[in-house]
Amino acid sequence: MVTVNQQRVLRKRTYLMCSPERFAVEYAINPWMDVATPVDAELAVRQWDGLRRTLVDLGHEVHLLTPEPGLPDMVFAANGAFMVDGTVYGARYKHEQRAAEAGLHRAFYEAHGWRFIAPGETNEGEGDFAYLPEAHGGLILAGHGFRTELPAHAEAQEALGRPVVSLHLVDPRFYHLDVALASIDDGNVAYYPGAFSAASQQVLAQLFPDAVLADDADALAFGLNLVSDGANVVLNGAATRLAGRLKAAGYTPVPVELSELKKGGGSVKCCVAELRL
Ligand code: ARG
Repeated sequence: MVTVNQQRVLRKRTYLMCSPERFAVEYAINPWMDVATPVDAELAVRQWDGLRRTLVDLGHEVHLLTPEPGLPDMVFAANGAFMVDGTVYGARYKHEQRAAEAGLHRAFYEAHGWRFIAPGETNEGEGDFAYLPEAHGGLILAGHGFRTELPAHAEAQEALGRPVVSLHLVDPRFYHLDVALASIDDGNVAYYPGAFSAASQQVLAQLFPDAVLADDADALAFGLNLVSDGANVVLNGAATRLAGRLKAAGYTPVPVELSELKKGGGSVKCCVAELRL
């Protein structure tokens, strides 16, 4: 299904999500997590389900993973793998608390018969990898500095056969690429320059002269942790100026509320892995 929305074109997507039924903040592995702040898991499920319904109502297919006891961060399904052209490059989590999630994602992909490549290097899937099918014929952007390690970028390039551009994250609040940068369509991105080293900012400016830039407040509101289908941009409702900039660029912002999951250090994109079949 292709519909034209102003000048922007929606491409139907296939996503993978995992309900936050077992979501909790039991450990702190990023600066947003505070084990002393209570989490309302019921509210988290309601907010997450609002996101799931939003994506379904926009015409997209959403697969579900079953949440497992003892894995309170499983709701952040984007970290479990990175799929391009039907090939899946598996994740290998940095922190031991999340390590077991990788096998559950692997089992999901293998059950569907998709080609799965097991990683040798530490990487957190779509948390640190983004794919732009129409930038330079198909470009992977990859973050390093906090979670995914640099050798994983080369491993992903070999696994997926697409050029990988390494970007250095330098601010611990933006510990994954997907909290600092998002693809907004097949060839363009939105990002927060301050999350990147000066050299990586220069690389991004060269590759994406028409990028939509977020300010500090919208980036800290997790505005960039968004999911776009090329026309509709589903993003955290608190990022109001970014929503305005996306609208001015011809996209339709679709705000959602995910306050509970922010306590785990994530928002829209963290909850949604894209299956690029
Ligand atoms: N608590 C999780 C962690 O620190 C949050 C993961 C957020 N996911 C993301 N794709 N940025 O690993």
